[in-house]
Amino acid sequence: MKILFLTHSFNSLAQRLYIELVRRGHEVSIEFDINDAVTTQAVELYRPELIVAPFLKRAIPEALWRNHTCFVVHPGIVGDRGPSALDWAIMRDCAEWGVTVLQANGEMDAGDIWAAETFPMRLAKKSSLYRNEVVEAAVRVVLAAVERFQSGTFKPTPLDYSRPEVLGRLHVPIKQADRAIDWRRDDTRTVLKKIHAADGFPGVLDTLCGGEYYLFDACAEDALRGSEPGTIIAKRNGAICRATLDGAVWVGHLKRKAEGELALKLPAVLALGEHLTDVPEVPLDPFTTCAGETYRDIWFEQKNNVGYLHFDFYNGAMSSAQCERLRDAYLAAIRRDVRVIVLMGGADFWSNGIHLNCIEAAASPADESWRNINAMNDLMRAIVTTGSQLTIAALQGNAGAGGVFLSLAADHVYAREGVVFNPHYKGMGNLYGSEYWTYLLPGRVGEVRAAALTQNRLPVGAAEAHEMGLIDGCFGADREDFVARIEQLAEGLAASPDYPALLREKVARRERDEREKPLDAYRAEELQHMKLNFYGFDPSYHVARYNFVYKIPHAWTPLYLARHRRIAS
Ligand code: COA
Repeated sequence: MKILFLTHSFNSLAQRLYIELVRRGHEVSIEFDINDAVTTQAVELYRPELIVAPFLKRAIPEALWRNHTCFVVHPGIVGDRGPSALDWAIMRDCAEWGVTVLQANGEMDAGDIWAAETFPMRLAKKSSLYRNEVVEAAVRVVLAAVERFQSGTFKPTPLDYSRPEVLGRLHVPIKQADRAIDWRRDDTRTVLKKIHAADGFPGVLDTLCGGEYYLFDACAEDALRGSEPGTIIAKRNGAICRATLDGAVWVGHLKRKAEGELALKLPAVLALGEHLTDVPEVPLDPFTTCAGETYRDIWFEQKNNVGYLHFDFYNGAMSSAQCERLRDAYLAAIRRDVRVIVLMGGADFWSNGIHLNCIEAAASPADESWRNINAMNDLMRAIVTTGSQLTIAALQGNAGAGGVFLSLAADHVYAREGVVFNPHYKGMGNLYGSEYWTYLLPGRVGEVRAAALTQNRLPVGAAEAHEMGLIDGCFGADREDFVARIEQLAEGLAASPDYPALLREKVARRERDEREKPLDAYRAEELQHMKLNFYGFDPSYHVARYNFVYKIPHAWTPLYLARHRRIAS
């Protein structure tokens, strides 16, 4: 079928649905929801059999829903209506939530229901629930709805609040007043819940060090305590710890409220700057085992002969300092008595490459880009040149740009089934990219495919990545399943009688490759291009980064996504 995606942006949900539908033989074209005229034009150009709206912020124009079947993916249970679905579900401690595919009509979220599913809730960031439970349920309900539509016989169910199974309700948009934290009354769980319900966007507005900031990226702290709720009692690797009535919480990221000005989400310590000089840094060694909850972005676990190195960076973005700390931890890990190192990334993201927000905030974004890419390359080099262990990259979450190539530094690469790869840099203002991608990518998929992947700029599903040799396998319907299978695999490899031969082969292969063309040569060539991106006359990378970090709305849909416009041009 010809399906048009009408979407605010090509976000993780839209990308995953795109992959799943294309995998099933559908043709999908994408149009960003910019205004009614552009949307109508897209439909006229493409003449889709079905319109799907994975992520919309505006109502679908009447001319469209009257003449075409338009599916809206709503992140809520049947009967739930309104724009803050997941936010309210977290705030109201709902034990179960869901995703519904409904047909657009004149009333927002009130159309006939084509498919719906529920899932159990957990106390987690809204962004994490969205990228995991919502995405997985949305894939199933959209595929079911598309099949039903294709059957030509299915009759969708009108929304009827008199039916006992319809538990959702119309709710008002959530306001900052609903989200506000009362530090003198709210216990730790309530504070966490409020910040989680606003994570990603818009954050919880609060006062800190005399300024107004939106709070993001919270986690509980089991040991540290302070006498005055709300005060900052510690900092660690960019995050701040604030006392609560009955404990403490960490806040990883802040965005300054700037009336009439654009503001940037930044690591909390960077956002607050000199206000924190008297706050003690409370370090935590990545190799210390830690019983309770606390904030840590890098940690190591060892089971039998296998070392697991976790790096759970917010949004998968890796600043210069994080790359340096991760490299230090990696070098310490390979000095341990382990035969296999598993690079675990984070629970929600594997990596999205260099930290564009920190770069934007730096005094010289060009210099900071240079420092960040070099720190990333140093980390990559340490992994690629490891001769003492076999390494596995275990992608629990999505990977983009340099983050994809970071995974290819390992000897074996495995991903959870639902993982989406974006193995390209070009969308970021024609960025050339480094991370030894010119060595690693053709080595896995060949020159022709490497060129296609980097130029086409399309997302790739884990199954397709496996098929083309980008990765070695994908399995696990959910994270627990994936991690359990990774552990089996790593332990099997460590205990294998072939292990010494495999390690010898790996070392020999690296030596051979090095003789053919040294790693330093790949790096120097890539950095030559990057120097032009960062310091050259063409400002495209700086403009694209600015638009990305400040979330400037798209003015048009790029042709590589809008195939209907490609055909027309
Ligand atoms: N630096 C800083 N922040 C980043 C980031 C990066 N490299 N990559 C993603 N993010 C942030 C986004 O700004 C967004 O922030 P939010 O918390 O305010 O929502 C969040 O991570 C999620 O990103 P989003 O784009 O919504 O996720 P997605 O899953 O829909 O899309 C990508 C994934 C990889 C396609 C997209 O994030 C992207 O293009 N990232 C930039 C990759 C890049 O060019 N890196 C630099 C070169 S190595």
